[in-house]
Amino acid sequence: TESKSVLFTIFGATGDLAKRKLYPSLFRLYKKGELAENFAVIGTARRPWTDDFYRDVVLTSIKDLMKSKSEADNFISHFYYQSHDVGDVAHYVTLKNLGEKLREKYSTQGNQVFFLAMAPQFFGTITEHLKSENILTGEGFERIVIEKPFGTSYDTAKELNDSLTKSFTEEQIFRIDHYLGKEMIQSVSAVRFANPIFESLWNNRHIDNVQITFAESIGVEDRGGYYDTSGALKDMIQNHVLQVLSLIAMEKPEKFDETHIVQEKVKALKAIRKYTADEAQANFIRAQYAAGTFDEENYISYRDEDSVSTTSRTETFAAGKFLIDNERWAGVPFYVRSGKRMTEKGTRINIIFKKDVDNLFAENDETPEQNVLTIYIQPTEGFSLSVNGKAAGQGFHLDPMRLSFRHDSEFLGNSPEAYEKLFLDVLNGDGTNFSHWEEAARAWELIDVIRKTWGSDTSSELPTYKARTMGPQEAFDLLEKDGRTWNWQP
Ligand code: BG6
Repeated sequence: TESKSVLFTIFGATGDLAKRKLYPSLFRLYKKGELAENFAVIGTARRPWTDDFYRDVVLTSIKDLMKSKSEADNFISHFYYQSHDVGDVAHYVTLKNLGEKLREKYSTQGNQVFFLAMAPQFFGTITEHLKSENILTGEGFERIVIEKPFGTSYDTAKELNDSLTKSFTEEQIFRIDHYLGKEMIQSVSAVRFANPIFESLWNNRHIDNVQITFAESIGVEDRGGYYDTSGALKDMIQNHVLQVLSLIAMEKPEKFDETHIVQEKVKALKAIRKYTADEAQANFIRAQYAAGTFDEENYISYRDEDSVSTTSRTETFAAGKFLIDNERWAGVPFYVRSGKRMTEKGTRINIIFKKDVDNLFAENDETPEQNVLTIYIQPTEGFSLSVNGKAAGQGFHLDPMRLSFRHDSEFLGNSPEAYEKLFLDVLNGDGTNFSHWEEAARAWELIDVIRKTWGSDTSSELPTYKARTMGPQEAFDLLEKDGRTWNWQP
C-alpha cells in the first residue's frame, strides 16, 4: 500500500479515549505501512506537556503492540505536543504555525485530519476557529473525526451539526459509530446481498420478527458521571442499535458505495414509525440494575455506583419494539434491547422466520421450530441457522439442529480493531461506515419521543433487574404480549 501524507491534530490528546483507541490504532496503521514517513501528529489539551512527555504517554499506550523499540521510537518521533485552550484565539495561531512547520518537515501536502476527542460542548468553538484562523486552507484534504455523543436530543444534535457545517461540509465530517467498524456488522450486507437464498426471504412474507440484543456484563465502571446523564436509550439505542437496524432493514442499494448505502439507510430510518407518547409508553420499557449475585460474585446496584445519584432515574437497560411502515416490513416487529450488568456480553441479531401455516407433521404431534438466522457480532463472531431435521432412530420425530460457523480465535486475534478500520476509511475519504447527519437526525427524532415520555414521569417506581440477569420482567412481557419470546441460544 502507498503510505499516506497527512497531518493529524488531536483535540483531547491527554484523554482516555486518545490513549485507549487513537494512539494504538495509528500505530497499527503505521505497522502496516499505511502511515510511514509523511505523517505528523499534533496533540493538544490544556495541560502544559513537553513533546518528550507526550511521546512517553503515546509510547505507554502502544507498548503491548510494539515489536521493537526502534520501530516504536520512530513512530513516536512524529508526535508533537501543543498546550491549547480551545477558547483562546492566539492559541490557534500557534497551532497554525506549528502545523506549517510540520507540513514542511514531513511533506504532508496540506492534508489534515482533526480528531475531536473531547466533550462535544467544545466542538463548535474549535471548528469555528479552525476556519477563522485559516488553519483550514483547502489545499489538501481536510477531514474532521467526531466521537459520540452527537447531541443529546434532536435539537442539541442539530445545533451541534449547524455549528460544524459552518466550517466543514458533510463529506468532510466523519461521525464515529464504532459498531460500524466491527467485522460482523460489516458482514450484514454480505449476508443479505451475497446470498440470494436470504435476500429472497428478507421480507414480511417470510420473516416473523427481528431481534437485536446488545447485552453487556459490565456495569458503568468509572463512567458514572457521563452515564448518569445518558442511559441505555441514548448511549446505545439511538446510535449503535438503530444503525444496525437500518442495515438489516434497508432496501438493496443501487450500488455498494457510500452514497447509495446511506441513501437506503436513511430511507429505512424514515420508514420507522415515530410513536406518539402513548405508543412510546406501550412499546418501550426501561429499568435499572439492582444489586445481585452471579458466580459467587456480588454486584452493587446502579444507584450505589461511583458518581451516580442515589436517586437516579437513569435507565441502564432499555427494550422496545420498532415498526417499519413500508412494503417490505409492514407487520414485522423489530425488537431491540440493550443493557449493562446483564448475564453476559453478547451482541446478536436474530432473524426469526415464520412458521409454516400448514404443518404436515401435526398428526404426528410434531411442531417444527421456527427457523432462526443468528448473526453473532461479539464476543464470538459468526452465523448460525437453525433447521429442523429428523431425529435419528426409529419412528419419525423432528429434531431441531443448527448449522453453525464461528470465526476462530486466530482469525479474531489478527483482524483489525474497529477503530483501526475506521481511521483508514477516514484517510481514504470513505464515509460508508460512519454516521451521517440525516441518519443521526432521524434516530434522534425517534428517540426523543421515548425520552420525553420517560422524562415526564418523575414519580412512578422505576423497574429494576438483578445485576447479571437478562433484564427486567417487563422486557419479557413486551414480547409475550405479542405471543413471542426472546431467542437467546449460546
Ligand atoms: C459505547 C458506550 O458507545 O459502546 C458504552 O458508550 C458501551 O457504554 C460501549 O460500553 C460498548 O462497545 P463495545 O465495542 O465494547 O461493545
